[in-house]
Amino acid sequence: MPAGDEKRATERAGAPPLLLPVPSFDLVVFGAAGDLALRKLIPSLFHRWRDGQIPANSKIIGVSRSSMSAEEFRRLALESFRKFHPGDQIADAEWAQFSQLISYAELDGVSAQSNWRALAEALSDSGAKQRVFYLALPPAIYGDVSRNIEAAGLKSSGARIVLEKPIGDDLRSAKAINDAVGAVFDEGSIFRIDHYLGKETVQNLIVLRFMNSLFEPVWNSNVIDHVEISVAEAIGAGGRASYYDKAGALRDMVQNHLLQLLCLVAMEPPLDLEPDTVRDEKIKVLRALRPITAETARSVTVRGQYGAGASDGSAVPSYAEELGAQSGTETFVAIKANIDNWRWRGTPFYLRTGKRMAERRSEIIIQFKDVAHPLVATGRDELQPARLVIRLQPDEGMRLMLMTKEPGPGGMRLRYVPLNLSYAAAFSARYPDAYERLLMAVVRGDLALFMRRDEVEAAWRWVDGVLDAWKADRTPVYPYAAGVNGPVQSAMMLDRDGREWSGGV
Ligand code: BG6
Repeated sequence: MPAGDEKRATERAGAPPLLLPVPSFDLVVFGAAGDLALRKLIPSLFHRWRDGQIPANSKIIGVSRSSMSAEEFRRLALESFRKFHPGDQIADAEWAQFSQLISYAELDGVSAQSNWRALAEALSDSGAKQRVFYLALPPAIYGDVSRNIEAAGLKSSGARIVLEKPIGDDLRSAKAINDAVGAVFDEGSIFRIDHYLGKETVQNLIVLRFMNSLFEPVWNSNVIDHVEISVAEAIGAGGRASYYDKAGALRDMVQNHLLQLLCLVAMEPPLDLEPDTVRDEKIKVLRALRPITAETARSVTVRGQYGAGASDGSAVPSYAEELGAQSGTETFVAIKANIDNWRWRGTPFYLRTGKRMAERRSEIIIQFKDVAHPLVATGRDELQPARLVIRLQPDEGMRLMLMTKEPGPGGMRLRYVPLNLSYAAAFSARYPDAYERLLMAVVRGDLALFMRRDEVEAAWRWVDGVLDAWKADRTPVYPYAAGVNGPVQSAMMLDRDGREWSGGV
């Protein structure tokens, strides 16, 4: 890097974070005693507050059916914060100040007869503040809760609603939910969360592709051999097994997170970054996905379920043991997806996600083609095609793997080396959790990072096809031991194409 560029980069890295201004708000969190609220939402709000982004007269109102006082809820929130974020130092005095924003209302959102007055009172001085309802609840009741919010007279002008994924468990149920919520809130006030869209590297994908002239000219099937999107988790289904068993890896991860990543990698350049412009491009990709049928299911998909094994050096039980029953649900899925359009003809997208895999690692790998005519093939490393690795987690960064000449005498000795950008090394700022960014985007009314109704439905249309194909074909669910990267059949699927997963199996 030229000296001037390096100096500028270092100066920016050490500077305090730039904060977008956020108006005062009242945020009502339904499902406030649940895992998502305690593990993610309240801690995210705390961080935004600590950074000075939340105006002092804002309010966070926890709502759940549990009977507790505001003080008890605040205590529960703090205990959960410390349990789930042990590395995050939080002083009692600091918490005391933040928690003044938090109140609590005991209420059953599904019942119109419940104590809606308690919530109305908590909101009563909200005046012109931005009102947001966050439904951290089972999706099947989104419609009822929306209706009750309106019936209780709480849907103030400009009020927004946030829906957690999954929106339904198939296209039909997704449409029913969208219709029911849409009868109360207009589309511009509905924020459907896919928290992967709030991740730093995912955002950076757009910058990488469209704000560097280097990549876009080669971003197509003439130069790219294949794309791999792997979201591997080390955790098992654990305490969520009863929800998870009804979903499985395809519904839980592919329908939303992996397809969103695929869209951002594959979409055409948008005209601008307006929410609808980007979403229009993403939906074209979803529509171009080649349907998977009963005839193709076994050659382009692999389902797996973990048995007992080891994770982080400790023995862990099988999925069936965690669930307490035998099950045909997949905890791993690998898919060879094809996008039938001009740009991607002949370039498969291999998707893979699973629980209890070898390690937590999420990456997008752009694998370029072999050079047309290799000049030398000797040296320490074999000649290998260039590869761009975009790492989402655990550490965020980008690596461009290139062939270079090993310096010094001794002829043309080749080395396959990375041009490396580790975010942690390059930028000193703390990485906000995806929910921090998404919550503030809701308050600011920025829909760009949220899914539009037709996007969610287009994703379900394709996923429903896969589910139907599995049913018709009785596609087997292969076992794999906890601690490996899925069943061997997943490696075999790529092997048939003369390829392999980047991290192996
Ligand atoms: C959720 C899924 O949407 O994403 C979970 O329901 C999964 O099963 C989680 O564990 C993964 O999120 P992250 O941010 O940890 O990769």
